[in-house]
This record gives sequence, structure tokens and C-alpha cells, in this order.
Amino acid sequence: MSRLRPFKIARNKFFNLSLRKFTSYFYYKFLEFKDRKYAFSGNLNYQWEKINFNRTALINYIICSHPLGTNLSYLEIGTASNQTFDAIPIINKTGVDPDMGGNIRLTSDDFFKSQNKNFDLIFIDGLHTYEQVKKDFINSLAVIKDGGVIVLDDMIPRNWKEQQTPRVQSKWTGDVWKLLFDLNKLDGINYKIILIDNGQCVIFPKGIKLTDQFLLNETKMKTFDYFYNNFKELPTIELKEGLMWIKDSLNSQ
Ligand SMILES: C[S@@+](CC[C@H](N)C(=O)[O-])C[C@H]1O[C@@H](n2cnc3c(N)ncnc32)[C@H](O)[C@@H]1O
Repeated sequence: MSRLRPFKIARNKFFNLSLRKFTSYFYYKFLEFKDRKYAFSGNLNYQWEKINFNRTALINYIICSHPLGTNLSYLEIGTASNQTFDAIPIINKTGVDPDMGGNIRLTSDDFFKSQNKNFDLIFIDGLHTYEQVKKDFINSLAVIKDGGVIVLDDMIPRNWKEQQTPRVQSKWTGDVWKLLFDLNKLDGINYKIILIDNGQCVIFPKGIKLTDQFLLNETKMKTFDYFYNNFKELPTIELKEGLMWIKDSLNSQ
């Protein structure tokens, strides 16, 4: 092998990476321009990276606080590279993803159609669109055990670009936030959005009843300005108080 070969490989890798970054930058700029009519200047100034407590820590906290502890049954919808799935201290866990990670290679729709297990804790982090997360949530209600918990990921976008669907940049929460404005139309719901890691919504579904209002999908056509202007009405909670609320809710179920 020529002594120059490692340098040539490194140079090619560098150029490939730069070319990919360069093309994706202009591609996203083009998509942003295409959707410019949705542009909105409001910005929520959360610095998630400065709060050293993420979704994985939250799921683990729920497991530690749950009476069943590591014996509870866990389902994760959307596992990607298993960052969360592998950090869950449960042996018999189920991770569903059509592409990677977990242990079931299916879409969440196909998974829910093909199985009849029930779960104590469900983390919904699959396709981040309003329609899909709503379906995942309704399907989860059918299989959550009495006293169980459902967590929804990425519920607080900070600006219009972060949530624009289809995406216009790589950092993307999707428009799953729209589900938050449906949740308060459910009878008997106990939920809060913990202010960590793009907003993690924790739901105690015991006693929830689906209502016609909830099923109407009235929020589907709303845009980011609606989220920004109505954000204060949402039941958000800071981390410390949120952890106490989780413990209290688990104890009173
Ligand atoms: C944000 S990532 C999940 C991250 C992971 N839960 C974690 O905490 O690190 C979203 C994942 O959802 C998966 N996904 C996309 N569409 C899906 C679907 N219809 N059903 C289930 N998973 C889906 C993608 O393949 C991707 O791996």
C-alpha cells in the first residue's frame, strides 16, 4: 500500500463531507424560501442544552419512581440509534422502528395492528408529524396498563423553522405540538409538559375518555404563530416541580 493512501482517503472523506454539508445547506435554504409564507419572528428562548437532564433521564426517573421499578413493561416507538432504548434498565423491552434500533422492524401502525401486549410505560418518539403522533397516542391508550404512563417527545419548538412540516432544516421537532392543544379536550386527563429536551409531555392516562372534540383534529391547520401566542395556556412545568408532580401522580394512581 502506498504511504500516501491514508492521506488520500482522509482528503476524499473531507471533500465528501464538505460537499454533503454544502448541498444540504443550500437545499434547506431553498425549502425555507419555498415555505416563507409561514415565517414568523417569535422565538421561545429555551436553551435545552444547558439543562443537564434529557428524555432518557426522564424515562429512567419514571422507572425509578414507579412501584414496579425495572419490572415494568416498556415500549418505545421510534428508536433510531438506541440512545434511549439501550439506556433503559429493563430486560424485556420493546422498541419499534421501521429503519433502525429497537427489536421490532415495523412502522408503529403495523406494530399496533399485529400485537396484543400491554405496557406500563410508553415513549412515543417515532414519526414527528401531528397525524402520526396522534395515531400513536390513540393506539397507546388502547394498550397502556392501568396506572401506566405515556411520554411524548419534542413538544416545544422554539421557532417556526424548527417545527415546519415537511422540514426546512436539520434540527426538527415536527408539528407534534399540535396534539397538545387536543389533549385538554380529553375527559379526565392529567398531563404536563416538562421544560427539558425540546419539551417532554408526560401523561397519566388513567381514567381518560376520548371525546368527539378531541377526535376532530381542529388543530391540524394551525401554524407556529398559534403555538407561540397560546403557549402560556399550556400546562408546562419546570424540571424540579415536574419531578415532584410525577412522583405525586404515580403515588395517587
Ligand atoms: C427522533 S428518532 C428516535 C430517537 C430515539 N427515541 C431516542 O431517544 O434516541 C425517530 C425515529 O422514528 C422512526 N420512525 C419514523 N417513522 C416511524 C413510524 N411510522 N413508526 C415508528 N418509527 C418511525 C425513525 O426511523 C427514527 O429512527
